[in-house]
Amino acid sequence: MKTSYDVLIIGTGIAGLNTALALPKSLSVLIVSKDYAWECNTFYAQGGVAVAKDDADIPLHVNDTLSAGAGHCDTEAVNVLCSEGPAAIKRLIDRGFKFDTDEAGNLLYTKEAAHSTNRILHAGGDATGRYIHLFLMEQLPFPILYNTHVTDLLLDEGTCYGARVFHNDTIFNLYARKVIIASGGVGSLYEYHTNARTISADMQGICLNHGIALCDMEMMQFHPTAFVLGNSVRKQLLSESLRGEGALVVDEEGKRFVFEYDPRGELAPRDVVSRAIFQYKQKTHKEVYLDLSAFSEDHFKQRFPSIYFNMTNIGYNVPHQRIPISPAFHYSMGGIKTDLHGRVLHVNDLFAVGECAHTGVHGANRLASNSLLEGLVFSTRVANEVIATQESTKTMKRFSESEAVLMCENDKVLKNELRHLMWNDAGIIREKQRLEKALQRVESMLALSIGKLLRLRLLVSREIITSALKRKTSLGAHYIKEEVTR
Ligand code: SIN
Repeated sequence: MKTSYDVLIIGTGIAGLNTALALPKSLSVLIVSKDYAWECNTFYAQGGVAVAKDDADIPLHVNDTLSAGAGHCDTEAVNVLCSEGPAAIKRLIDRGFKFDTDEAGNLLYTKEAAHSTNRILHAGGDATGRYIHLFLMEQLPFPILYNTHVTDLLLDEGTCYGARVFHNDTIFNLYARKVIIASGGVGSLYEYHTNARTISADMQGICLNHGIALCDMEMMQFHPTAFVLGNSVRKQLLSESLRGEGALVVDEEGKRFVFEYDPRGELAPRDVVSRAIFQYKQKTHKEVYLDLSAFSEDHFKQRFPSIYFNMTNIGYNVPHQRIPISPAFHYSMGGIKTDLHGRVLHVNDLFAVGECAHTGVHGANRLASNSLLEGLVFSTRVANEVIATQESTKTMKRFSESEAVLMCENDKVLKNELRHLMWNDAGIIREKQRLEKALQRVESMLALSIGKLLRLRLLVSREIITSALKRKTSLGAHYIKEEVTR
């Protein structure tokens, strides 16, 4: 098998695939996928893609993004996202992608929390991510190596030369002049999450192992409305567009209690709604539901076919029967620190894009449906940068193919303990003492004889906890109970 390429892309979500599509076919490009290509967060994205509807909407989209981000966004990154967004969407449409339209062919825009106007495009009703993913896959001119677990980056003196991978029971090196990490976030660190099962923070852990900076790792977003009952690893997301179009958050008696926490009620930013649900449940011990009675069955089936199918399969008579909900981990605003061209700081020839990257675009709380747009906009920037800096003269180094033990016998038990600990102690509502205790436990797990893959998860968990401890006051998605001082 060929092991040297011009470009190696790690990940098959929107960021990885769209980067590949923007590269010339003359380059040799390999994409590695940890599992099936569709086991990525893009595939499960329901709501849609936020985009300014016209020039006048760009500053409004900027404002909404900045204010959801709680003043913690990089304004330049937000300007890039919102002003380059319409062209990114146009490129997708020009290639032949079909967003949902009305009968006259006009694009349909829905609303989600914290958007001042309807600006969310969707496809297949609530299957936006799946439709985009299939579309990008169909267009892909480069090969994908499936079931390939990246175990390390090949780094020497501040330059990246490729990645070490585990594939078909073998460890070997894949060499590349440029390496692009597009591997998604950190969902599997948490007990309840909406992410694909492959999303387990490996690349963030590898970066930490090499001293590459992560940024804002305390900023973890919890989606307010997930169906968390049942044994599936990935919890069923109940899209924010349901609330945008009339679904209500109610308690057992039908009370819309979110208004007690924020005057915007169900349409407050998602960190606010998540905390309201979490705290209300803790305070009252009542069950909380998503009430879908605003929808007729026909309309619901047609507008939200995936949710209809999934919930009906589980045994809920939607939209007539309300669905018990809980917040669940959804998205990491923190990530591998990059500049606005996706270049990983202080490492040559290494890029990061999409959820794994930190450009500062989401600040302390990502605005709903900005992530697919981020994937489209910043992947184009990364591809342009790769093209502009591709030189055939790079002297490639060779690396050993030996690797640490990846998994040990007891790792699964520890992994589950870690998920539980992260959910309870580094989750929606944080307390200094609990974070400190969690940190101690993570340190003690790191001292055990464990496999490398668990070690990478632990490194990222430690980074989340220590970042949370450093930020002593609440901001956006990071909510920490202040200590009572006497
Ligand atoms: C949703 O459909 O609620 C998720 C959208 C997003 O995470 O941006």
